[in-house]
Amino acid sequence: MKLGSQLRAYGPSGSFTPTVAPAAKQSLYLSAGSGVTPLMSMTRASIDLGLDRDIVFVHSARTPADIVFRKELERLVALSPRLRTFFLCEGIGNESDWSGPIGRLSLQQLSEWVPDYAEREVFTCGPAGYMKAAQTLLREGGHNPARYHQESFDFSAGAATVETAHTAETAAPQVDASQETFTVKLSRSSRTFKMRASETVLAAAKKAGVAIPSSCSQGICGTCKTKVLEGEVDMKHNGGIRDREVQKGFRLLCCSRPTSDLVLEL
Ligand code: FES
Repeated sequence: MKLGSQLRAYGPSGSFTPTVAPAAKQSLYLSAGSGVTPLMSMTRASIDLGLDRDIVFVHSARTPADIVFRKELERLVALSPRLRTFFLCEGIGNESDWSGPIGRLSLQQLSEWVPDYAEREVFTCGPAGYMKAAQTLLREGGHNPARYHQESFDFSAGAATVETAHTAETAAPQVDASQETFTVKLSRSSRTFKMRASETVLAAAKKAGVAIPSSCSQGICGTCKTKVLEGEVDMKHNGGIRDREVQKGFRLLCCSRPTSDLVLEL
């Protein structure tokens, strides 16, 4: 990079957001470790925007010293009567005067802190084991699974989904279209390359030496979002693009396979 270099940036995307349940006025945020991050953003946004949301934030950490955003959460609690926080630690570490509970999240502890948890929209983020345990515990407690949301950035899980979706679609093809080739044109650079129908546009572009920004390669992060100016693709994404972006012609190239020649805004 040098002075004057330009960077292309995108806004936040994905489906782990309270907007998935706009009518829900009562939320329960469950996090562990660095999983606190997206829930912290959601809490800040709710308070900064003056949204009328009742939030109970239950965070698990190894020790009190490991509670991420502890001071900020305490400050936000003092600011907003609609926010309550509870911290749960596996051990006291160096904080000998810690008066909070020690252990892992249990239904008993949750019921004590949040007696109306079954009525709340639940958002969970943390290590996979934690999220699985939280989900099981809530189910056992009679929480409606339709009101449970969890952050997922597990690329291997995404890969399985994409692969399964693609395999299912192509399991019994009427015609073997995988050998079909299409031409992809890039409108800005005027470059052109050929690709097979079975490849993703991102993989084919890389093979042709065309650099397209990408990260997860599983339709999750949204980095490869590109406008398709002409032609059609078959996209199997994992939440990395919004419906309104699709309507505007954007596609995630890492999980899109062409069904015609294409012109991309690149
Ligand atoms: S690279 Fe992440 S969505 Fe395509």
